[in-house]
Amino acid sequence: MLNFDDDRLMIETDHQAVGSTRVRIEDKRVINGTADVNQLVPFKYYWAWDKYLAACANHWMPQEISMARDIAQWKGKDLSEEERRIIKRNLGFFVTADSLAANNIVLGTYRHITAPECRQFLLRQAFEEAIHTHAYQYIVESLGLDEGEIFNMYREVPSIRDKDAFLMPFIETLTNPTFATGTTLHDQQLLKSIIVFACLMEGLFFYVGFVQILALGRQNKMPGASEQYQYILRDESMHCNFGIDMINAIVEENPHLWTKSFQDEIQDLFRMAVDLEYCYAEDTMPRGILGLNAHLFKQYLHFIANRRLQQIGLAPLFSSAANPFPWMAEMIDLKKEKNFFESRVTEDQTGGTLSWD
Ligand SMILES: [Fe+2]
Ligand SMILES: [Fe+2]
Repeated sequence: MLNFDDDRLMIETDHQAVGSTRVRIEDKRVINGTADVNQLVPFKYYWAWDKYLAACANHWMPQEISMARDIAQWKGKDLSEEERRIIKRNLGFFVTADSLAANNIVLGTYRHITAPECRQFLLRQAFEEAIHTHAYQYIVESLGLDEGEIFNMYREVPSIRDKDAFLMPFIETLTNPTFATGTTLHDQQLLKSIIVFACLMEGLFFYVGFVQILALGRQNKMPGASEQYQYILRDESMHCNFGIDMINAIVEENPHLWTKSFQDEIQDLFRMAVDLEYCYAEDTMPRGILGLNAHLFKQYLHFIANRRLQQIGLAPLFSSAANPFPWMAEMIDLKKEKNFFESRVTEDQTGGTLSWD
């Protein structure tokens, strides 16, 4: 039920009144806008609309991907104990991470964003987070893993719990029902939470996990899980880029938020996130396998963190950070036409059943 005592709703209702002034592009703002949020057009933020269209064009569902070879490998002797540890810890982080992401969008970010083009992307993103949680659940179920063990890892495994504990205060800022934008302090809190989510969660905390499973896939291990992760990586890469565009648009429209002390605070958060993700890398692969080890991951995290910092207009923090996994760039840039999609099932138009290409 609508609460008409709420100031925000009153403002929105005013602008929805029949016969009121038509929406003007100059009144549209990413935050604290005064134009009717129910009216998508006239467009102002084409970068958001274009990403919404691109995200829809990349639609996929977890059950379209066969897990038959993964199941055979998991039940057989193809996988070492170290590889099994990676797979389980990996799923242990991701089975709840995307629920955090979904809640953050639906209960938090969405209501503070006043550009309908951005809201349109966030709605699509929220559905994709549901698909990702579904994909991880589907892998856990297919392999017959202990669901209690995997789904509780974010409470019980310190290297996973610590990452989530780092994120929680930023999610709580946005989901707190009494939080509203409109002051410099609150607008900075919102901006900080969006940066933490786009650049550090979706843009950094996911990447050790992605590299590990995709490295397995490159050795023909867990091909179904690996294919799911490739789709997810492509989605997350889009979420991260959308978040960065939104951050830069907010800063451009509100330059007074981007103070030196605020920038310093953001850089400190980057340092903390890199440390946490490095601990997770060490914990998931204590002895190094698949041509990967914790040292390479440190280099990779420095490379990614520098890139994210530059994308939001901040100076890189880490020196000599080259990318030790150049093949990851190819994974992110995969297009539908490439071989990666050859094993995707297609719908049988006449019978409605699924068949394999
Ligand atoms: Fe996700
Ligand atoms: Fe995401």
